[in-house]
Amino acid sequence: MEFRNSIHSNLFFELGLNRNQKIYSLNNVPVHGKIPDWLNGTFLRNGPGMLNIKNRRLNHWFDAMGALHKFDIRDGKVDYSCRFIECDSYDGVIESGDLKFSEFATDPCKSIFKKVQSYVFPSLPNMTDNPKINVARIGEKWMALGETPMQVEFDPKTLKKIGVSEPVPGAFSYKTTAHPHFDKEHAYNLVVKFGMISYYKIYDVAKPGGKPLASIPIKKPAYIHGFGMTKKYFIITAGPLVVVPIELLFWKRPYIENHKWRPQDGASIWVIEKESGKVKAYFETDPFFCFHHVNAWEEGNEIIMDINAYDDASIIQKYYLRELEQPDVELPFGTIRRFRLNLSTKKADIQIISNACIELPRIDYNRYNTESNYRFTYGVSLNPNERKGFYNSVVKINVQTGENSYWFETGCYPGEPVFYPSPKSKSDQDGVLLSIVLDTKTQNSFLLILDATTMNEIARAGLPEPIVYGFHGDFFPAI
Ligand code: CO
Repeated sequence: MEFRNSIHSNLFFELGLNRNQKIYSLNNVPVHGKIPDWLNGTFLRNGPGMLNIKNRRLNHWFDAMGALHKFDIRDGKVDYSCRFIECDSYDGVIESGDLKFSEFATDPCKSIFKKVQSYVFPSLPNMTDNPKINVARIGEKWMALGETPMQVEFDPKTLKKIGVSEPVPGAFSYKTTAHPHFDKEHAYNLVVKFGMISYYKIYDVAKPGGKPLASIPIKKPAYIHGFGMTKKYFIITAGPLVVVPIELLFWKRPYIENHKWRPQDGASIWVIEKESGKVKAYFETDPFFCFHHVNAWEEGNEIIMDINAYDDASIIQKYYLRELEQPDVELPFGTIRRFRLNLSTKKADIQIISNACIELPRIDYNRYNTESNYRFTYGVSLNPNERKGFYNSVVKINVQTGENSYWFETGCYPGEPVFYPSPKSKSDQDGVLLSIVLDTKTQNSFLLILDATTMNEIARAGLPEPIVYGFHGDFFPAI
């Protein structure tokens, strides 16, 4: 690569994380196998598209300019296209050739970086608006989602920007998650408001401009990537990766590096009544870190909550590109942990469901979120026989028995597996998984379609280019 001097042999890194996405479209992508005739719709995926800017490489997997990828599947045929996400941060890079806003772990060069543009604490004026993490349909709008509440509405046919949605007034005072929860016509999201007193707040982002449904004051807000929801409750989990908000005012280092791991503080869990916004119960546990909640439901006087957790936040350190470019990088094992939160005794009982490594976990969300009879979660994983390097397999975990099974192919690096049920699906394994796989053998990517029951391949649609390794997506059936 033109930006790198050192020679090393991590082909996955060079193809999947050390480059900028080639933007193109291709009709009738070659398909091997037979795509089920009921699988008609659009698979959209968000993630990094540009990791090299001007004469430097960005620091972290989460820093990139975002790109959307689209696979239109119809009658067994596949069309593909991709596009960078237009926003102030991306426009700034195109205009100036360099970062103009602070990304997750990379700041703009000092010469163009106005450290504090606004003195109205706690505005975060330099923070990126790049919604590069997830996609969602919120009401009638197709949204690209990131961790600032400036979300970009796009046209699902062209992937072009339609506009910016600001569901929370004064969005630059906030951080949010790219993992809203859906419940009938509602779309709930957690936002963190920084200030002398900071707050965790929950909003219905399907109804912009509304009041928060819940508001919890907090001295040292945690880095939070997702939250939980049952039928009656929201669940906020905060590991001790926390920031003293005044550090953000002075902004001496990139955003995430203002956060400190404080295991002595333990982790906090709030269970909040959806209807009243009141805290029903508060729990303190041993420290843990998680990006992703998996599922949660009510059972008698308990709430059962599955999360994809780690002992500490070192996974964020491992996602720096300088770490990932090491061929023998060892990623911390995230596992599914089940929390039984007793609303009477306020005691939390925690158990690891399976020793399988998992990240980017997915379930059959539309039918099984908040349901006690959910049985399966799917994610990317490290094959037990090949634990070094980046995620090299798709794992399926039975959360009732702890059993797991894998899809694995030499030289392949699958992305988040998205579950979509078959038409008469009777369980949360009765359907397909869709995953974008980077194949270092062919140095290209393909769309993989797996039978979620057997974890066997049904079909693949091969592209003539590698896709930068991304984050989250979803399958939207044809209307
Ligand atoms: Co995520």
